[in-house]
Amino acid sequence: MSAKYGFDGQVAVVTGAAAGFGLAVATRLAEEGARLVLVDRAADALHSAAEKLSGLPVVADVSVESEVDGYVAAAVDAFGRIDLFFNNAGIEGRMAPMTELSVADFDRVWAVNARGVFMGLRAVLKVMKPQGSGAIVNTASMAAIKGAATFSPYIASKHAVLGLTKSAALEGAPFGIRVNCVAPGHIDTRMARDLTAQINPDDPEGVFRAVSESVPLGKRYGTATEVSNLVVWLLSSESEYISGALYLIDGALNAG
Ligand SMILES: NC(=O)c1ccc[n+]([C@@H]2O[C@H](COP(=O)([O-])OP(=O)(O)OC[C@H]3O[C@@H](n4cnc5c(N)ncnc54)[C@H](O)[C@@H]3O)[C@@H](O)[C@H]2O)c1
Repeated sequence: MSAKYGFDGQVAVVTGAAAGFGLAVATRLAEEGARLVLVDRAADALHSAAEKLSGLPVVADVSVESEVDGYVAAAVDAFGRIDLFFNNAGIEGRMAPMTELSVADFDRVWAVNARGVFMGLRAVLKVMKPQGSGAIVNTASMAAIKGAATFSPYIASKHAVLGLTKSAALEGAPFGIRVNCVAPGHIDTRMARDLTAQINPDDPEGVFRAVSESVPLGKRYGTATEVSNLVVWLLSSESEYISGALYLIDGALNAG
């Protein structure tokens, strides 16, 4: 793919960069000439992604305050600024009715998906405000706008991502910083495959086929590359009047 957005030399921080959406967005940003800081807790996969994309790898757990401040400090030490931030790392957690979930189940998902996103925003906004510029995309989900039985921690955490996006957009606006979130539906990554196995461990492929059939557009899961196309556009100046928004990418699943 040839460069189309002119990210040449811009500094991009991507969390969850070792797999799925993070890796797809990092790949696109590398092709577009951005200088990359790649963050993930999966050290081996992160190092191979960083080598392939010539990015700076920072092994960090986004649910740990000192490690979040650490990956932001590493970016500033290496490049002096942060122009683009894909605040994306997340986990699905355990699917079960609330009555069968422990508080620890809830806390585990909340720590990564909500606190992790908050701490990332907080640390990156501190860098972007004095710059007077920056573009941020948080990864929410269609789970940010609807409920689902047996998925309450994840649903709650993604509603939180939408709230954080709106608040950060208002706080960033006077400084020329835009903050949006993407809300993917069913996208074929490790996470989606784990969910099919949680729903029916005896027949995950059957679940995968049934979910595919439920999607109005194309009767299929989306791809990480399709999500990356949306994210990269939201990070680019082509979306310069868009902030505080949630963008569904779900093949019309939630249109009805
Ligand atoms: N796949 C889907 O259908 C789907 C739909 C909607 C939203 N999402 C969201 O998209 C984001 C990316 O998911 P994905 O499908 O690419 O999943 P994935 O599991 O393929 O990739 C997630 C990456 O994040 C990393 N990660 C997880 N917890 C971390 C932590 N605490 N610190 C640092 N890194 C961590 C993992 O190691 C992995 O590399 C998540 O926020 C997820 O909730 C996914």
